[in-house]
Amino acid sequence: MNPKMLMIVQLLVFALGLAIAVPIQNYTQSPSQGDESSQWVSPHYYPTPQGGRLQDVWQEAYARAKAIVGQMTIVEKVNLTTGTGWQLDPCVGNTGSVPRFGIPNLCLQDGPLGVRFADFVTGYPSGLATGATFNKDLFLQRGQALGHEFNSKGVHIALGPAVGPLGVKARGGRNFEAFGSDPYLQGIAAAATIKGLQENNVMACVKHFIGNEQEKYRQPDDMNPATNQTTKEAISANIPDRAMHELYLWPFADSVRAGVGSVMCSYNRVNNTYACENSYMMNHLLKEELGFQGFVVSDWGAQLSGVYSAISGLDMSMPGEVYGGWNTGTSFWGQNLTKAIYNETVPIERLDDMATRILAALYATNSFPTEDHLPNFSSWTTKEYGNKYYADNTTEIVKVNYNVDPSNDFTEDTALKVAEESIVLLKNENNTLPISPEKAKRLLLSGIAAGPDPIGYQCEDQSCTNGALFQGWGSGSVGSPKYQVTPFEEISYLARKSKMQFDYIRESYDLAQVTKVASDAHLSIVVVSAASGEGYITVDGNQGDRKNLTLWNNGDKLIETVAENCANTVVVVTSTGQINFEGFADHPNVTAIVWAGPLGDRSGTAIANILFGKANPSGHLPFTIAKTDDDYIPIEIYSPSSGEPEDNHLVENDLLVDYRYFEEKNIEPRYAFGYGLSYNEYKVSNAKVSAAKKVDEELPEPATYLSEFSYQNAKGSKNPSDAFAPADLNRVNEYLYPYLDSNVTLKDGNYEYPDGYSTEQRTTPIQPGGGLGGNDALWEVAYKVEVDVQNLGNSTDKFVPQLYLKHPEDGKFETPVQLRGFEKVELSPGEKKTVEFELLRRDLSVWDTIRQSWIVESGTYEALIGVAVNNIKTSVLFTI
Ligand code: BGC
Ligand code: BGC
Repeated sequence: MNPKMLMIVQLLVFALGLAIAVPIQNYTQSPSQGDESSQWVSPHYYPTPQGGRLQDVWQEAYARAKAIVGQMTIVEKVNLTTGTGWQLDPCVGNTGSVPRFGIPNLCLQDGPLGVRFADFVTGYPSGLATGATFNKDLFLQRGQALGHEFNSKGVHIALGPAVGPLGVKARGGRNFEAFGSDPYLQGIAAAATIKGLQENNVMACVKHFIGNEQEKYRQPDDMNPATNQTTKEAISANIPDRAMHELYLWPFADSVRAGVGSVMCSYNRVNNTYACENSYMMNHLLKEELGFQGFVVSDWGAQLSGVYSAISGLDMSMPGEVYGGWNTGTSFWGQNLTKAIYNETVPIERLDDMATRILAALYATNSFPTEDHLPNFSSWTTKEYGNKYYADNTTEIVKVNYNVDPSNDFTEDTALKVAEESIVLLKNENNTLPISPEKAKRLLLSGIAAGPDPIGYQCEDQSCTNGALFQGWGSGSVGSPKYQVTPFEEISYLARKSKMQFDYIRESYDLAQVTKVASDAHLSIVVVSAASGEGYITVDGNQGDRKNLTLWNNGDKLIETVAENCANTVVVVTSTGQINFEGFADHPNVTAIVWAGPLGDRSGTAIANILFGKANPSGHLPFTIAKTDDDYIPIEIYSPSSGEPEDNHLVENDLLVDYRYFEEKNIEPRYAFGYGLSYNEYKVSNAKVSAAKKVDEELPEPATYLSEFSYQNAKGSKNPSDAFAPADLNRVNEYLYPYLDSNVTLKDGNYEYPDGYSTEQRTTPIQPGGGLGGNDALWEVAYKVEVDVQNLGNSTDKFVPQLYLKHPEDGKFETPVQLRGFEKVELSPGEKKTVEFELLRRDLSVWDTIRQSWIVESGTYEALIGVAVNNIKTSVLFTI
């Protein structure tokens, strides 16, 4: 072990030792008191591993990138690394251009469920809904549809998928953007999404790296409600080493393996260092251990230092300005990075690596912009004509919106199919569902969430919550979708077609009329909702995260009133995360319940199709629904007087996230992870296991690195005048340029580098590294498990057998039971199929914090196959 590694190990062991001393707190207690300085430290790791040194990985892309970067001037390289400023160019993020090499401003555009700030586009089912399909084919198909739309709009880099938040906190505002509260599910869904996007020549950007589990305090200067004072620093997500690897980092490893071109570092601090200047996270975990070959881009305003972020592994600054200084023309990079290169505070090798990583990622993902592939929309105006640079109203008026409609049969079909397959049937007594006129002739639909919001569809970043829920709010929303279908529209249509009598009531507070119409109905549907979103918008006191887990718009009372008056009440919960079901789940008149995540634009069609049996429900819960809210990890709202909040809930909970906690503590949930009924019964039986490859306890040593390289002109010119702006530059106000001012004074650097700073590249990879996503051996199939699945019902349907793995009882590493396989299979009535699950070496591995590597413990493992984590149908043992 080299001395650097030894230091890291020591620090980790030290941090872990301290972690054990942290008392376990009850989540209902007020969080940690006192201002004692934190025990959580993120070790330093330098230098940033140079990209392009993994054997057989991205070599062609790197060769092309190097050929160009080798000819670039310093300002050209800097221009690739820095955004041009907020609201100047057409996308939410735009890099500088390098016309000499045909590189236009690169367009980075939100978000995970569709193209934000553009017209005619589709708001696809959210990540959370997508996760609930448990359908790998649909993960890919949705990625392809997204890719097609981003590409049609001229976007080069799509800011998705999201796999952080991991969904650790039920009230977390942005959980809906990612795929559910399990890293294995998130990893598979993210990898397929990335593949789909990048097949369409759009680079994916997986985010947020890492620990962005709540919106409260995600940035500095947030208000502490207890003291009415603003915080000084963003919250520190304190994450122990094992949980970091086995939970939080896991889906990022899948993403890197899938060839993702870029990664977005998050706003928050991680173990007390900001994610976008955290050398341990970016240099060590991402670029060394996971072998990430693309570039790291800051979340918007998440960069809080210049030199420090550069040497810690950040490659691109977005939207370009310093935190809190949008449209001030001031950047940590841009001109200041040029300066830092000229005075040699930042080694030129680091800048070369940033530029090379950016270009290599464009080549590797086939998203290098061709001449005519440019954004054909403006994020900042819906008008056809506008200022060429929006924030500078002195610039010329040009055509900025071309109203390109990317939709086609494939996009339409995908948006609907994913939405339908994500809907989870939670309760269905007396065959209440599917609805048919034979069972009930008079139908009542109620609930504010059934119909349109009076304000329409295009409110700020989808933050309108007085109507149907299509998305969550924030940057992860599609602001002007082509159209949206409410449950009201489609349910009333299907009711009409079925010759039913149809009534609808929106009123949800004055319940007298509800009482009357409900008592007249044979069957009532109540559509209720709970929303959340990103922290920069507060809706009804919900600052992104939800204040509580109750239903919005008096939903609980409405359900109660309808159920008291109608013996067949169907509740449709649409929400961005878990809600509390206790008020109505066991009500005898609530005979059916379905849950739907944000389903996107076809929400109403999908819900109606499931309710009326035009499609069968086959979704499964991507998280656990508890009986008491105290069983969820809370949002940290405490901030000490130092103004530096820390989140130790992640430490206390450690590996016991979501169902792991319920299983380990024997807590009966209301609805378990993986649960979901269907209109047909099915049988899962006869588990068998076979070894595919012998696994040793230790990983094999990875292949060696290719030798490092440097550019001929690497030192660049030491004459600052070479970096002055061209004489004919027509400056746009507030625009960020890479040029030095002509009166610049360059002092020789006496920058105080952090402890352990070094510029010496490693010659060999660390043991868990050396391959894309980590040591290649991690990705080998170790065991195969088979089960028989049979449809016992009378219609063709889709089922999801799930594999959960139990580690050896007597193992040294206490490991909770966890999801390690799922497949969605279609079966006609009576049909039986054998389903195979592949267990990769990584699926069996635990992270050994002492050895700093993945190991496979010897002992007897059990593969449990069932229909939910707490409903296992068959199992098989195998001994390693
Ligand atoms: C969000 C990112 C988003 C970016 C650009 C940030 O506030 O956290 O997810 O991609 O803005 O809009
Ligand atoms: C923008 C987002 C951005 C956020 C940052 C909002 O005004 O719309 O794109 O991420 O500010 O806080």
